[in-house]
Amino acid sequence: MSTLRIYNKEFEPFLSRTEIAQAIHELASKINTDFAGKELVIVGVLDGAFMFLSDLMKELTINVTLEMVKLKSYEGESTTGHVRRLLGLSRSLRGRHVMIVEDIIDTGITLGHLMELLEAEKPASVTVTTLLLKEEVFKSKYAIDHFGFSIPNKFVVGYGMDYDGLGRQYPDIYAAIH
Ligand code: HPA
Ligand code: MG
Repeated sequence: MSTLRIYNKEFEPFLSRTEIAQAIHELASKINTDFAGKELVIVGVLDGAFMFLSDLMKELTINVTLEMVKLKSYEGESTTGHVRRLLGLSRSLRGRHVMIVEDIIDTGITLGHLMELLEAEKPASVTVTTLLLKEEVFKSKYAIDHFGFSIPNKFVVGYGMDYDGLGRQYPDIYAAIH
């Protein structure tokens, strides 16, 4: 892994595909145990979660269905925008065990909006799994049930995550050099 340049920003290797695969393996084992004998609805949050979602699902042995959603915000898609609508839910979540799957959670503001939208569907339970969690800046009343890595407040790309649309395709994760 060498450094990466996207627009004017320099990125250095941060988490390798091997470390990511190991973390996913452990997350999947926990999920398989926690939901043994139950059926889970995974709500994958696009676009960033697509790669994590794909690798995580391959290791799940419980019965699982998938809903891919997108959050639509009034002020564009920035993290500061107010999330108003959830796009892409195709089936009712009433009485189901729901698991939100995210690539990265930082402040938890977006998660809070998503939680409220999902709670309104009256599921039996809602849990949250994210590959990366920026614990330093996370402030939310909702708990993160499972995370792969707790990371410092650095800007990261790769493995589904982007910098202004670019960088999603890399199998490893890179962090911005300041
Ligand atoms: N990288 C990409 N997307 C993000 C990040 C990040 O560090 N934090 C929140 N969304
Ligand atoms: Mg995301």
